[in-house]
Amino acid sequence: GHSTGHGRLLCVTVTDSPFLRACRREPVPHTPVWFMRQAGRSLPEYRKARQGIAMLDSCTRPELVTEITLQPVRRHNVDAAVYFSDIVVPLKAIGLDLDIKPGVGPVVAEPIRGRADLERLRPLEPDDIGYITEAVRMVTAELGETPLIGFAGAPFTLASYLVEGGPSRNHEHTKALMYGDPGLWADLLDRLADITATFLSVQIEAGASAVQLFDSWVGALAPADYRRAVLPASSKVLASVAHHGVPRIHFGVGTGELLGLLGEAGADVVGVDWRVPLDEAARRVGPGMALQGNLDPAVLFAPPQVVEEEAGRVLDAAADLPGHIFNLGHGVLPDTDPDALTRLVAYVHERTAR
Ligand code: CP3
Repeated sequence: GHSTGHGRLLCVTVTDSPFLRACRREPVPHTPVWFMRQAGRSLPEYRKARQGIAMLDSCTRPELVTEITLQPVRRHNVDAAVYFSDIVVPLKAIGLDLDIKPGVGPVVAEPIRGRADLERLRPLEPDDIGYITEAVRMVTAELGETPLIGFAGAPFTLASYLVEGGPSRNHEHTKALMYGDPGLWADLLDRLADITATFLSVQIEAGASAVQLFDSWVGALAPADYRRAVLPASSKVLASVAHHGVPRIHFGVGTGELLGLLGEAGADVVGVDWRVPLDEAARRVGPGMALQGNLDPAVLFAPPQVVEEEAGRVLDAAADLPGHIFNLGHGVLPDTDPDALTRLVAYVHERTAR
């Protein structure tokens, strides 16, 4: 919304919103801002809403999902909402025995290691996630002209949780399978690509205005291995939703050496972590794509003056880019002061008002 009166272009439709205009590399009234993990533990209203409800249960309750998705939009005046869910929701929806352990992350009861395990990865049907269709409709009705970003985990990052059985520092079981049994690995990623494609389509058909494919842990790979073993599956996902015409954001952490390939996989917007300045990232990604990022989320723990200086550095590096969406280089850290996020949104809007 534009209740604070930034900019002279009044955006009356979601299509004309600063966020979607920036994704399309069109002129904007101000640089749009949203934060990965903006809905979550940094907000007291989130902790209250979630009290006594397990993470994965909360994702199946449309009223609760709507409330949690809207919380950061109301509080921070961000330019987009991100649908409240998790990357493992579609895997739970096809019947895998997995849970999200607080402070740990997704944990899978029986890891996928062999050919026979693949049978447990049946296709996702839209009816498996009727609660998502319902929740996306509710959220978009409430959001009005503010766009909703849907999302999914990319095949590599999902495979990492499934093969390791939980979060992993070195991804050794995942890499053992990738290098040791390329045929099985390709089949695993292909099944995950189909599940992910359905998961994104359901969100878009219910009203999401953009989607982000999170390949959070793919920075663990060298470019040649990414190209051979991962890019085909991620390309399949991104190509499968191209006909909807909504912007596709492709993001990973530690992907400095992979930025060109993330774009090549079929993205409209490439998400950049804090390690590569955006002007350099633009050279690596190549022409025709917008960039999203990339303030280090830990900078928000520094004094307000420093946050502004560092955010200013990000904006300066992006000054010559036709499409920039301001974000952090990764998700909001749980102990972040929410007021620091609100101030940051106001700062970016004011500094970039045209
Ligand atoms: O605001 C938003 O960005 C939407 C919400 C969102 C969640 N998960 C909610 C969540 C998004 C976009 C995700 C994606 C996700 N989940 C990713 C990709 C993004 C990234 O961070 O790279 C990954 C790798 C996961 C897996 C996952 N789920 C982790 C590592 C954790 C944290 C575990 C912990 O407790 O520290 C989760 C749980 C999770 N997903 C929480 C939230 C709000 C915290 C659970 C809680 O509040 O109890």
